[in-house]
Amino acid sequence: MIVPFFNYKARYAEDKEKIKELVYQVGTSDQFILKEYVAELEEKICAFTGAKHAIATSNGTSALTIILKAMGVGPGVDVLTPAFSFISTASAIALLGGRPVFVDVDPITGMMDPVDLESKITPLSRVVIPTHLFSVMADMTAINEVAKRHDLLVLEDSAVALGARMNDTMAGILGDAGLYSFFPAKPLGGIGDGAMIVTNDPELARLCRMLRNHGQDGITRFLHHHIGYNHRMDETVAAYLIYKLGRFSQLLERRAQIGNSYNEAFKGLLPHLQIVDDTSYDRVYYTYVLQAERRDDLRVFLSEKGIETQIYYPRALPLQPAFAYLGHKEGDFPNAERITKRALALPLYAEMPDEHVEYVKHAVITAMAVSTYV
Ligand SMILES: Cc1ncc(COP(=O)(O)O)c(C=O)c1O
Repeated sequence: MIVPFFNYKARYAEDKEKIKELVYQVGTSDQFILKEYVAELEEKICAFTGAKHAIATSNGTSALTIILKAMGVGPGVDVLTPAFSFISTASAIALLGGRPVFVDVDPITGMMDPVDLESKITPLSRVVIPTHLFSVMADMTAINEVAKRHDLLVLEDSAVALGARMNDTMAGILGDAGLYSFFPAKPLGGIGDGAMIVTNDPELARLCRMLRNHGQDGITRFLHHHIGYNHRMDETVAAYLIYKLGRFSQLLERRAQIGNSYNEAFKGLLPHLQIVDDTSYDRVYYTYVLQAERRDDLRVFLSEKGIETQIYYPRALPLQPAFAYLGHKEGDFPNAERITKRALALPLYAEMPDEHVEYVKHAVITAMAVSTYV
């Protein structure tokens, strides 16, 4: 059996006719960018998440950039960001001229460690970016507490966590601002790049909205209040996302079903295999990442059984060549570095057939049982 990590064809199969219709309709109109579909998607995301303001952007990285800029990040400003994450959080800070101050993560969850966070705060710190990854959420209660004590703004990188909920509040609005990415592989994946900024702060929202479109206020064209960006969303992307949002809850349920069934199957496999089995918040399963003592051997074993896996992420951010100028060295972020050697992502997507899920579970359990492996 061949079990792909992901299957875009299956993902878009049932939407084929709708996509044709929407692309044709927008493509033959004179309404291409930031028009009615974008406005409707912003309203729908507010309704879905409970956010007071939503601002659609061209992608998650541009959303991060806009929020950071609106929060005043630039030269002379430090931003606290996880050492284990996708690069766009840290690169957005650096491209604005700010300094990414890396924070180590919890050894089990891989999310920002609130204790290390507090120890890394400098007099120049203005913003902290807790990131939710895979299906796991950062400890927002503890991080918000630290942020409050030190007068920091909280930018929640909820790019992959649309629909997750902690303490009765949706991921994205647990801090001062958040964002959701609609990159095709994401839980609410679009037919191109796209993202949404969310916040309950009207002033921050107003600023983000202007920065998205060259600093204009949406009333007077060519009057630029700020130096902003072209980080706008296309109407085709918005039109499809509105349609897909209609069955998003079903898609999340299927993801959770697969995630829970992996959790159930793997929780007895400690210490060779580590999972995050936390049910204290509503998780959105974007990908399923476990930690294995002999990760590379497990990966080969699964590959020989026809199962495709991925490594999220193979190198801690402070040790990336791109951040060499910050002068970090191996051992500075022990938990993040350890996870990069142990993390393995298994296939998980809403359209994944049950037989594939069962096959993956069986293969992982077999790997742990065979003497050549353990
Ligand atoms: C945690 C996280 N933040 C931000 C992003 C950036 O989103 P985008 O790809 O839409 O720029 C990603 C994308 O993978 C991500 O995983």
